[in-house]
Amino acid sequence: MLNETANDLQPFWRILSDSLGYGSWVRLVLSKQRATEELVRLTVRMIVIKDQATLSFLYSYQTRDITKNFAPPEGLKEIQDMLGETFKSAHLLTATEEVQVNISKKNKVHLSSRKRKLKDDAEPNETMSSHNREKNRFVDINRPFLTALGVTDHNHQLIPAMARKWKQVNKFIELFSQALAQSSVPSGQPVQVVDFGSGKGYLTFAVHDYLRNSSHQHSQVVGVELRSELASLCNRAAADLADAGLTFVCGDVKTHAPEHTDVMIALHACDTATDYAIHYGIRAKAAVIMCSPCCHKQIRPQMHSPAQLKPMLQYGVHLGQEAEMVTDTLRALLLEAHGYHTKVFEFVSLEHTNKNKMILAIKKSTIGDTDQCFAQIEAIKAFYGIQEHCLESLLRQEA
Ligand SMILES: C[S@@+](CC[C@H](N)C(=O)[O-])C[C@H]1O[C@@H](n2cnc3c(N)ncnc32)[C@H](O)[C@@H]1O
Repeated sequence: MLNETANDLQPFWRILSDSLGYGSWVRLVLSKQRATEELVRLTVRMIVIKDQATLSFLYSYQTRDITKNFAPPEGLKEIQDMLGETFKSAHLLTATEEVQVNISKKNKVHLSSRKRKLKDDAEPNETMSSHNREKNRFVDINRPFLTALGVTDHNHQLIPAMARKWKQVNKFIELFSQALAQSSVPSGQPVQVVDFGSGKGYLTFAVHDYLRNSSHQHSQVVGVELRSELASLCNRAAADLADAGLTFVCGDVKTHAPEHTDVMIALHACDTATDYAIHYGIRAKAAVIMCSPCCHKQIRPQMHSPAQLKPMLQYGVHLGQEAEMVTDTLRALLLEAHGYHTKVFEFVSLEHTNKNKMILAIKKSTIGDTDQCFAQIEAIKAFYGIQEHCLESLLRQEA
């Protein structure tokens, strides 16, 4: 490598080294290999082995993948040897920023970076071009589970009909990883995850894959699904992939026995199934609760529109929207009242529904004063004349 190029890369080596030191490293991808190279891409993640930070290298060749682990100094040396020689591009994702390095044909180094933040209501990377967005996905498109589930073909190319699913999976893993990082779950500790209504398992496999390649590598993920044929299908795929720590059980969220759970997920569990799932998460003292509610049937028939709102709520579509908003507000307030910092925001929509709301709750270290939340719940119920809300009743039975 030319001296000038080596000098220009110094700021990038500092960023890499700092992100290792702070434990904020999420993923580094080296790509754009020189024409003579068989190696197509290198993905480096930070994991913890025997309490030691370790760099896990995934070398992706045309036809096979090889994984090797390095102690950080050797790993950084390996990356320094490859960037500029084997690869012309690097993309680093840390908990707080994204850094892109491109080396031109004339060996000029171009480095750019941007801060990352969890937005309440926007798509990730919305300021980037669609080309860059494709490159900066949270899930590596070469992961075998994507092929096993029919998201990619055997050459790891996205199957066009699965484009929306691919987008959802990425967005979900982005939110999941940020929520976990903000929660009380310590880095390096195995995480217990329950995914209620796991369906065909796309998100369940993605969560498992993410955790197993992160510092939480001995994590356990369980999908709970009412339809036995889907649970069996997913168990077969997990067995074929030899995915340790990933299981699917045929069960009902309403009766699933509480177990130790760090993260409770329920995406598009119908109507009150979402309330049972949240109730499970609160009972299990889950550090993170993520749900995307679907069909808000329970509250709608109970709602009496106050006189001022009658002109607006005479339209069925508005009444439906109002019922959804009221139901999810009560859920969010009940979560707050049980010690969770709760956000309600837009998530990317799924192919079987246009509903795209997410309730994300992260357990606080102290519960604090909850009287205000309970007072707000009572006021909303009184305003609309609501007699019963499923989650509230479930929580009352517990008390
Ligand atoms: C719309 S799909 C969502 C699948 C997946 N969570 C996703 O978002 O891609 C809902 C799934 O929940 C399952 N389900 C519905 N009610 C359930 C219940 N009470 N307990 C467990 N699973 C349930 C359904 O069989 C279905 O597979």
